Amino acid sequence: MLQPLLESIIFEKASFKDANNVAPLYIKVFEGHPWYEKLTCNTKFEGCGVTYVEEKDGPDMNVVNGRSNLFILDGSYDNCKNCDSPLDKTLTNFWEKDNVVSDYSKATSDNSFIGLLGSKVSKKFFMKKLELVGFVWGFGVESNTMHNKDEIANLLVDLSIDPSSTFYHSEIGIDPEFQMKGIGTKFMSAFTDEVRNNGFSNLIYRTTNTAMIKVYEKLFKNHKELFNDPNPSKDQIWYGVKL
Ligand SMILES: CC(C)(COP(=O)(O)OP(=O)(O)OC[C@H]1O[C@@H](n2cnc3c(N)ncnc32)[C@H](O)[C@@H]1OP(=O)(O)O)[C@@H](O)C(=O)NCCC(=O)NCCS
Ligand SMILES: [Zn+2]
Repeated sequence: MLQPLLESIIFEKASFKDANNVAPLYIKVFEGHPWYEKLTCNTKFEGCGVTYVEEKDGPDMNVVNGRSNLFILDGSYDNCKNCDSPLDKTLTNFWEKDNVVSDYSKATSDNSFIGLLGSKVSKKFFMKKLELVGFVWGFGVESNTMHNKDEIANLLVDLSIDPSSTFYHSEIGIDPEFQMKGIGTKFMSAFTDEVRNNGFSNLIYRTTNTAMIKVYEKLFKNHKELFNDPNPSKDQIWYGVKL
């Protein structure tokens, strides 16, 4: 039987030069389903936790990555329609392209940054065309770019894990139009090789995303688990594996 042809995807190292190419894809991946990171009533600031989605994205999705209560955004307002506390506009501002470009540039300037970009190759009249379809990156846990640095440092000390050989996988995204074709799994596998080749022997990550948990489970089913620890201050779990 004929196998369906997999998209031909090439992986290249990500660098600061790619910022203008990466930013629009990054925004596309995170501002819509299933993350809706654009506007929330942030519980950090005593909000009620509802997430606002665009009319075109809702309203049939009642639970999105563990977030219930999606509200349709039908205007821009300052206070939550549900609990009246001030809405967290920092996220909304973050999703401007310039901010994503600057955030990415900051990430790539970190010494321990390792990232890969995946592009679909197509040929048209002998011209090769590359279309960016995915990104993945992270940092060594000792880097200043590391989120929750103190929290993870304490966890590693408690478990006698050497931080200098431990890498934090921070971001991954596949263009929604190219998801569910196995690209995320291939991509993460290539990235893990790259991280290992750079001398790291442990990988840590934190997620609640169903698809990503499946990817990690598939790739690391034969790897030694170092920890699987609920993040005390958040709704997510830290995982650690030996590479
Ligand atoms: C997570 C992500 C990178 C996976 O990429 P992908 O190319 O779709 O992954 P794959 O096609 O390799 O699929 C991986 C597994 O997840 C499953 N999966 C994919 N999308 C899913 C979804 N929406 N719900 C449940 N399972 C899903 C696939 O069926 C597959 O499992 P299987 O091998 O048991 O069939 C992609 O969904 C994405 O970019 N999501 C938005 C960004 C994000 O959430 N990033 C992670 C933040 S921690
Ligand atoms: Zn609210």
